[in-house]
Amino acid sequence: MTATLIRGRTLSFTRKPESLDDHSAYVYEDDGALLVADGLIIASGSYEAVKAQAPEGVTEIDHRPHLILPGFIDTHLHFPQMQVIGSYAANLLEWLNTYTFPEECRFVETAHAKRIATHFFDEMIRHGTTTAVAYCSVHKTSADAFFSEAIARNMRMVAGKVMMDRNAPQGLLDTPEMGYDETRAVIEQWHGRGRNHVAITPRFAITSTPEQMSVAQALIREFPDLHVQTHLSENRDEIDFTCSLYPEAKDYTDVYARYGILGPRSLFGHCIHLSDREADAMSETGSVAVFCPTSNLFLGSGLFPLRKLTVREKPVRVSIATDIGGGSSYSMLRTLDEAYKILQLQGERLNPFESYHMMTLGNAQALSLSQKIGTLEPGTDADFVVLDMAATPAMALKAEVVTSLADELFLLQTMGDDRSIAETYVAGVAAKSTLGAL
Ligand code: GUN
Ligand code: ZN
Repeated sequence: MTATLIRGRTLSFTRKPESLDDHSAYVYEDDGALLVADGLIIASGSYEAVKAQAPEGVTEIDHRPHLILPGFIDTHLHFPQMQVIGSYAANLLEWLNTYTFPEECRFVETAHAKRIATHFFDEMIRHGTTTAVAYCSVHKTSADAFFSEAIARNMRMVAGKVMMDRNAPQGLLDTPEMGYDETRAVIEQWHGRGRNHVAITPRFAITSTPEQMSVAQALIREFPDLHVQTHLSENRDEIDFTCSLYPEAKDYTDVYARYGILGPRSLFGHCIHLSDREADAMSETGSVAVFCPTSNLFLGSGLFPLRKLTVREKPVRVSIATDIGGGSSYSMLRTLDEAYKILQLQGERLNPFESYHMMTLGNAQALSLSQKIGTLEPGTDADFVVLDMAATPAMALKAEVVTSLADELFLLQTMGDDRSIAETYVAGVAAKSTLGAL
């Protein structure tokens, strides 16, 4: 066992902070350290205490004055949409039909899927994202390229081959049988290999026939421990189209309920326009609504009602994500900034402790993975990031007047991006400074 001692200011949440003054929701060490070995955090705390537990002659890396946080977790994005980002469309359905579906057709080619997978993992590391929950394309080859690259990078990833059998170009359609067989094959080949988790991934109700939704249900019954991901209530036209395709359902959420897709391991991208009944159904089943700020603004989908969903008798579990390529930035810091503005527009506040909790421990809990990721607790994966609040001249100038941890976090989320990620550690290994050296 080769141990490394990593020194810096450390911040890790223990629960959701209720306010800016809720200091017992996190552990902060002004001179902190992590002892890592075999991909895990062995000890964390004050430098003095951790150093006392370290073996004689341990290698030390000093990141002071930078801030060390658990690696960022992105709970919803599309790996085949790296070249879709910034496509000029009026709304979701136009964006899907004009740009996104044609682009995803290219992933039938293994060489293309492999090339984009390489870029994808580079961008995750560059932006400090150590776990992402990804949609691949409908082609099994895209999932193979994704998971194989995840193993090469030793990253904890959740992803799925998309199932879609209607309302898209021919090159992007499977069938209920293919959706079942290929998803099973992906599970058998990749789930539990390296740090991979396979997610059952019916794209959304518009692109799956009732027969394919039944197949998704069968897979969920067969593999109850797997994550499930789909889209829900993103755009008014999408909702109307879905309800016309499933006239027997009470509403959009009920479509998924009828096929057993709601549940504590299910992630629903967007959830902007849910009725109270739908929010109740989400809450009762422990389903997760995924807030995708940059995407919701970029596609003009609407303002995610974070408080309406969470401050209610039956609260809905919520996570936060980029939704690349409807989303416009890989950066979870940029994502928090846009989340803050979305709440501002609704007369609400999102304090920086709450937002940083969301993208670390909160997102880990939404994935039921907080025993492994999302904190700096001993025994968890050694995935963490080193943040520099003075990464650009403009940030350095502002940093001169920063006097508190809350100010620092807020500066980082308001002005920061990949340039503020001084280092990204994956399983205890510095991965950003060594990008390209693989
Ligand atoms: N709904 C179905 N597919 C997609 C997608 O790729 N992106 C977004 N934002 N919404 C979707
Ligand atoms: Zn999406």
